Amino acid sequence: MKVLVVGHGAREHAIAAALCRSPSRPRLFAYMATPNPGIKALVEDWKEGDLGDVASLLDYVARIRPRLVVFGPETPLAAGAVDALEERGVPCVGPKKALAQIEMDKSFMRDFMARNLGRGFPRWWVLSDLPAVERRLRECPDVVLKPLGLTGGKGVRVMGKQLSDIGQALRYAQGCLERDGAILIEERLEGEEFSLMVFTDGRKVLPMPLVQDYKYAYEGDKGPMTGGMGSYSCADHLLPFLGEGDAEAAFEIVKEAVVNLGREAGASYRGILYGQFMQTQDGPKVIEFNARFGDPEAMNVLSLLRTDPLEVFSSIAAGDLVDGVRFAKQATVCRYLVPEGYPESPRVGLRFSLPVEELSGLGVEVYFGSVSEADGMYVTTGSRSVALLTRGESPEAARALLDGVLERYSPPGLYFRRDIPKLPA
Ligand code: AMP
Ligand code: GLY
Repeated sequence: MKVLVVGHGAREHAIAAALCRSPSRPRLFAYMATPNPGIKALVEDWKEGDLGDVASLLDYVARIRPRLVVFGPETPLAAGAVDALEERGVPCVGPKKALAQIEMDKSFMRDFMARNLGRGFPRWWVLSDLPAVERRLRECPDVVLKPLGLTGGKGVRVMGKQLSDIGQALRYAQGCLERDGAILIEERLEGEEFSLMVFTDGRKVLPMPLVQDYKYAYEGDKGPMTGGMGSYSCADHLLPFLGEGDAEAAFEIVKEAVVNLGREAGASYRGILYGQFMQTQDGPKVIEFNARFGDPEAMNVLSLLRTDPLEVFSSIAAGDLVDGVRFAKQATVCRYLVPEGYPESPRVGLRFSLPVEELSGLGVEVYFGSVSEADGMYVTTGSRSVALLTRGESPEAARALLDGVLERYSPPGLYFRRDIPKLPA
């Protein structure tokens, strides 16, 4: 069976690697904006094309005729790729454009939650002029400023972290207002963050193990926000700061979101819905929803997936999700190696090597991100370069294995966060 994976990052490398483990041995193809060396090694053929260019994707689909298309990133979802493919009878893992709006439009997401769920969110305001922003900031300075559209997780500014005072906040808000005409301001939530991703066909909703992602560039949660510097999960699929009751409460929120999105859009949500939560004193609250796997969180959960990945994805696309999904009862730790200067001015063109076979022999999974290949070396192309993942009986065990490996193999010019995961003493 031919399966096309769309996207070119470490997340898509992990999706392709999971599909390769299927006993049905699917024939893999990829559609990528930049050729990923890890994905290229797993696929029969690939096409280079813009992720938002639906016509180019359709051309490739017409040529290779896949029986299933699995979407990694949000860009093609926002461009309506699933709508176009389903119209042509091609089964997809990923929601249609109207459903993916839950990720693409943050003010829609907040209205949607208020309209349908009535709980699980911070106070928020959508403001369209600077004096209104200033009044809000003076009245309630503990807030977060968010541009309305997609920013790859890098547009959010938290008062007290990236913004030190109201003057700085107003300057940032002005830029957003000029670009988008409005800005979203939210009450700043305090607590631990976690990611809850589910597989769904629009009716059945199956949770994946909980994962914690680390967004800040530097150790101690300092520095600029990134797409995620690393992540971990525990053998019981919960997290040290989150018990079963709160995990269940978060799952209920995601389930209700799936059902209500489908009802409002008149179409089933088929794919992955990812709730990013803050565990507050009042229970879990949604920071955002994403219409796809998290990156790096995809690495953690796919590494543990024991049900045939092809069966899971095919059953989502067919609108008849399998009854249960099994995950190994192991912990995982994932760390990204990123170029010096990331995220603001990452070093591009830095050459490095990594003994993938040797690492694999040591129990380390390697997923390539923004790198190309030249003369047997990897070359940084800007964003997060490569993710390393280990498993173990506990996060401590997985971390110890990864620490040892990084001590020996960490390439010069790339940096990573040694403090992932932070675990209770
Ligand atoms: P987002 O792009 O909405 O996922 O936000 C990126 C990051 O900003 C999150 O992972 C949080 O660390 C932080 N953040 C976003 N919204 C809030 C909020 N309401 N309160 C506190 N932190 C937030
Ligand atoms: N790890 C955060 C994201 O994928 O959005």
